[in-house]
Amino acid sequence: MTKIIDGKALAAKIRQELAEEIGALSARYESKPGLAVIQVGADPASSIYVRNKKRACEEAGIVSFGYDLPAEVSQSELLELIETLNNDERVNGILCQLPVPDHIDEFTILSAIDPAKDVDGFHPVNVGLLSIGHDCLVSCTPAGVLEMMHAYDLPIEGQRCVVIGRSNIVGKPVAQLMLKEHATVTIAHSRTKNLPALCREADILIAAIGRAGFVTTDFVKPGATVIDVGINRNEEGKVVGDVAFDEVSKVAGAITPVPGGVGPMTIAMLLKNTVKAWRKANGIIE
Ligand code: GUN
Repeated sequence: MTKIIDGKALAAKIRQELAEEIGALSARYESKPGLAVIQVGADPASSIYVRNKKRACEEAGIVSFGYDLPAEVSQSELLELIETLNNDERVNGILCQLPVPDHIDEFTILSAIDPAKDVDGFHPVNVGLLSIGHDCLVSCTPAGVLEMMHAYDLPIEGQRCVVIGRSNIVGKPVAQLMLKEHATVTIAHSRTKNLPALCREADILIAAIGRAGFVTTDFVKPGATVIDVGINRNEEGKVVGDVAFDEVSKVAGAITPVPGGVGPMTIAMLLKNTVKAWRKANGIIE
């Protein structure tokens, strides 16, 4: 029987636990965690993500500070805002929703965020710490993937893991996490030769490509764990993953659906990272 990994339910449980933790600790320490969310421009998809992030914060007892900047804002104005937030004690996490407009250099912006407040885990310091297997703020989607696999007792140690996709946000950090958990990891991408054959060797297949239904049964070893990070719209406008769920779910041992799989976990991990940053800033170790 294929296990369907319910990210929605797991994320709801984590958010509930975080709300309880925040409620107890904030009363005792007279402090509340705070997250600043910056959006530059009005990309409709980004607006939905940002709204969901702010709402999830408020539900968990995290104070959210929203900054909606016009698409024409200059890079130096954005850097000034980040500097102000870096120095604001009420703010424990800073997130700049990506993508930013072309006249703004993403690397410059991400590097300006205090690494201790980098709840997206995109700052080069956190990326470097992850790559040497050190404790750090880890990018939320990869952290969500790991959390799901642990919650469902899916084996990682000694398993062969193929990650399709080499983005800085998902592909590379999820590969680092799997390596840290003692998987044997291969990162595949658009120029990989014989991709289906390579993927068929995987005990854990992680799809983060951004192409609707790209992973079909001929990519999947029977019984493999299949994690679908994709969020795409198909021709009918329906939200679908990178994996052809209907057919692949018949051969996989465990699989994440889209929607309701990895997506909800990303926000839960953002809240978790914010609480982690808040605890550290306030010396809360209990
Ligand atoms: N754009 C797409 N995914 C993400 C994410 O996880 N964080 C931010 N800041 N922007 C994104």
